[in-house]
Amino acid sequence: MAVHTVTWLPAGRSVRLATGTTLTEGLREAGLELGQPCGGQGRCGRCVVQVTAGSVRRRSTLRLSPADLEAGYALACQAMVEGDATVRLLATEAELERRMVTDKCARRVEAPFDYDPARDQTIRAFALALPEPTLADAVDDWARVERGLAAYGIRGLEIPLPLLPTIGERLRSSNWRVTAIVETDTWHRPGGPVRLIELLPGAAQAPAGLFGLAIDIGTTTVTIYLVDLHSGQVIDTAAEYNGQIARGEDVISRVIYAGKNNGLDELVSLVRATINTLIGRLAARNHVRPDQLYKASVVGNTIMLHLFLGIPPASIRLAPYIPAATRPTPWLAGALGLELHPLANVDCLPGVASYVGADITAGVLACGLADSQALTLFIDVGTNGEIVLGNRDWLMTCACSAGPAFEGAGVLCGMRATRGAIEEVWINQATHEPTYRVIGEGAPRGLCGSGLIALLAELFITGLIDKRGNFKLDQDTPRVRIGDHGAEYVVAWAAEAATGRDIVLTAVDIDNLIRAKGAIFAGFAVLAQSVGLSLDAVERLLVGGSFGQYLNVEKAVQIGLLPDLAWERFTFLGNTAVLGAYLALLSRQARSRLQAIAARMTYLELSADNTFYDAFTSALFLPHTDLGQFPTVARLAAAGEDALAASSRGGKP
Ligand code: FES
Repeated sequence: MAVHTVTWLPAGRSVRLATGTTLTEGLREAGLELGQPCGGQGRCGRCVVQVTAGSVRRRSTLRLSPADLEAGYALACQAMVEGDATVRLLATEAELERRMVTDKCARRVEAPFDYDPARDQTIRAFALALPEPTLADAVDDWARVERGLAAYGIRGLEIPLPLLPTIGERLRSSNWRVTAIVETDTWHRPGGPVRLIELLPGAAQAPAGLFGLAIDIGTTTVTIYLVDLHSGQVIDTAAEYNGQIARGEDVISRVIYAGKNNGLDELVSLVRATINTLIGRLAARNHVRPDQLYKASVVGNTIMLHLFLGIPPASIRLAPYIPAATRPTPWLAGALGLELHPLANVDCLPGVASYVGADITAGVLACGLADSQALTLFIDVGTNGEIVLGNRDWLMTCACSAGPAFEGAGVLCGMRATRGAIEEVWINQATHEPTYRVIGEGAPRGLCGSGLIALLAELFITGLIDKRGNFKLDQDTPRVRIGDHGAEYVVAWAAEAATGRDIVLTAVDIDNLIRAKGAIFAGFAVLAQSVGLSLDAVERLLVGGSFGQYLNVEKAVQIGLLPDLAWERFTFLGNTAVLGAYLALLSRQARSRLQAIAARMTYLELSADNTFYDAFTSALFLPHTDLGQFPTVARLAAAGEDALAASSRGGKP
């Protein structure tokens, strides 16, 4: 057997290794350590190294990008010595992190490159140095302001009542030098009139503090972007669980609650209170006064917007499922009790039908689906799994009640995707010990959606649960046990958790997750079927949702949440609903495009027949009753079973 010299960098240690030795064995020979969260199964990507000289034989290259392979990267557990070589251990966590092609991260939100407030923004500020009235020039104050604005091409000024009684005093106390904040037009009044919102003392062309809000009212999570309307940049974001959760985890239970006593008023004040709490948090953190918030774009599913605007949603729940409105005109923040400038317009964006609302039309705008020639499947993984299939020529959509599990609600140790949330998990095939990654590093506090998807997949692939999600309690590990809530897996012991309690995934949690993924899978399977397409024909699969900033698509396929397509077809976009609201907030063109998108979408009512129910029951397995639809998972599960059998025989093949 030939022996070769392998040198490890940066340590500079060299060892003699026989042909066929894996790099991980070689590392041990050199007295060096490298974590192997998946136990050397080639699944986790945490043993990535870079071959800088010579070559090695790479057994599996699936999960590394062509560019990384070209640059000599390899999974140490899947690479064998075949000659002299120099191998570099990666220096930093950042270099190691997310190298796998299965690791999809949402892009950082940036203002559209060509944002031009003068062309795009309806909220404008104009510096007015007005001549003081004289007998010769005795026009009224309103007309004087109007004349000042005419110099900027602004015609036909509307001054709302609350403001009109105050303009005289403001003009005189500022010595006729003021800044007019106006809204030039809205989607339902594209030609104006121009509405005066504020008269600020001093004539400044770009007064400090011209802000707006993009608000996503999710059934489970409310998310807000604070936006600088001058630069178009997102200054800060804040999110919180929707205060309405306490009155029902899903939209149907809230519709029922709204129909009882003063249930509707209660739900309205709960969601508005959640929004005001977030506005207060953003304003305090960024030294912004609420009266500097001059506009808000709001999205949410149709029921959430009814419950936000105080419109009874009862007619949506019963056939023929008719909402009161899907394209409401803007309302004043003051009238809604929201802590923005009282004359700021709150613009609820257009929806399509009973269960497909503005969060989806905004998502379609944000992901560019309606401009793409490629056949695209867009899935918003949230409490109501909304789905769109199509391209620039046609758009079909449907919605299915998935439940809040992927947003961490209704799960014992679930949490939002924020600091302290476990967002990725690997389980060592042999020891059943987990390795996890936490958002913001630090001690874990719970599991967010991305982490729940990863843990469920790892439990299944390593054979600790069966395809129905039941724990195999005969495993030789303290991690699988009967706890206070029944069978469970311990992903973090109390000693390592910020909560001081074990972080577990229970059998009940698993059932909720399987039902949630089953509903979403069934939704897009039925949608594709309804237009006579197979899922293989999908060229792009876009995933949105506020369950994390990261998604391991391989694991989402392994549990049967996403179809078994080539990984490069997947893109994870993060919260597309609030992204679309942000684009509509910035640009009147985007706002009117949204109107057009909503008008073009064809809605498929899933509860109209049994197709969905049949598809749903078949999807209540990991990954699905029909394994033929998941060839890559079938191969992996078979390999996992063999390895498990081997480990229960004490590791000997
Ligand atoms: S991929 Fe090598 S240890 Fe997991």
